[in-house]
Amino acid sequence: MLHESLTLRCGLVLPNRVALAPMTNLQSHADGTLGDDELAFLARRADGGFGLIQTCAAYVGQDGKAWPGELGIDRDEELPGLRRLAARIRAGGATSMVQLFHGGVRADAELSGAPTWSASTWEEPTPGFVPPRAATEADLQRVIAQFVAAAQRAEAAGFDGVELHGAHGYLLSQFMSRTMNPRTDGWGGDLVGRARLVRTVTQQIRAACKPTFAVGVRLSLEDFGQARGMDLDDNLQIATWLADDGADFIHASLWDVGRKTAKRPEAHAIPLLRAALPRAVAIIAAGKIWSRADAEGVLALGADLVALGRAGILNPDWPRQVASGTEPMRPPITKAQLAERAVSPVFADYLTKWKGLVAD
Ligand SMILES: Cc1cc2nc3c(=O)[nH]c(=O)nc-3n(C[C@H](O)[C@H](O)[C@H](O)COP(=O)(O)O)c2cc1C
Repeated sequence: MLHESLTLRCGLVLPNRVALAPMTNLQSHADGTLGDDELAFLARRADGGFGLIQTCAAYVGQDGKAWPGELGIDRDEELPGLRRLAARIRAGGATSMVQLFHGGVRADAELSGAPTWSASTWEEPTPGFVPPRAATEADLQRVIAQFVAAAQRAEAAGFDGVELHGAHGYLLSQFMSRTMNPRTDGWGGDLVGRARLVRTVTQQIRAACKPTFAVGVRLSLEDFGQARGMDLDDNLQIATWLADDGADFIHASLWDVGRKTAKRPEAHAIPLLRAALPRAVAIIAAGKIWSRADAEGVLALGADLVALGRAGILNPDWPRQVASGTEPMRPPITKAQLAERAVSPVFADYLTKWKGLVAD
């Protein structure tokens, strides 16, 4: 099953059920153009047998940029690098998608040079938190157009699809949040209003790109980290609407596929999502998938694809390795071993933020 192909409803054929999860890696240039280290990191995993390579969260507008060295997809000047990346991933035998991103209040105002904005303004007891400006209608129309233009750039560059980053408390997720979006103008408040931004972006990308180009959305089904005000039933409903809007897949960012939902401790999120979606809409699931048995367990629950984050960093040949019965390496990993796996020193330093991942 894990090594069987999967056809998305747009017609895109993925050679197997193993994706590299989107991972911020800080390896591109300050102006958003592709860095050679980012290319090498992703190419190594395409060569290693991953059926789908998802890029890091790539910013669609300068005011949404959240990290130094973040890949950009907001300007045509970035197209040559994006073309090189798409072609190299394809040469490795994988399909490719860009993760389209806007940070909202989690953008870095110092990096982007623009004050942050979101659905509304609020205070947070986080050190250094600067309350965002509440979005105007012009902000919304601009960001919708930026997401669409970014998807068209991905298509022009030769990628097979895009994933909207609707998870982890960034702009699209801030709009879906019960706590961050009390707007009363049709872009917030009730569930219909809170879902409107992500739905509009999905519908417009679906209409602007060719029917065979894959479009999907990553969601946080419940609160975790910076994703706040997330309700399981709200998000199952949003997933269903996104399927109506033309999404080819929903990517559930679960952080730990071994856990049941917080709202209904007897229920796992994947069967709930499977029951909510038409069969033609694929489910990707991510969160602490290390072994072949973990991955097969997730497919047995009803997911169509697994996305590996940390296991894919440590094991660039994961799909081939597990096919031949080799157990994947587990953390900790040294910086020297990371270098052997096409992880540059900048990315290796960033990975030290993940507890227990990199050896001291
Ligand atoms: C270094 C790193 C960077 C990440 N960056 C992103 C990102 O840009 N976009 C995103 O949706 N998730 C991001 N994530 C979350 C992963 O996609 C994944 O969902 C998470 O790591 C859980 O999977 P894992 O247990 O297999 O690592 C990141 C995770 C890591 C470890």
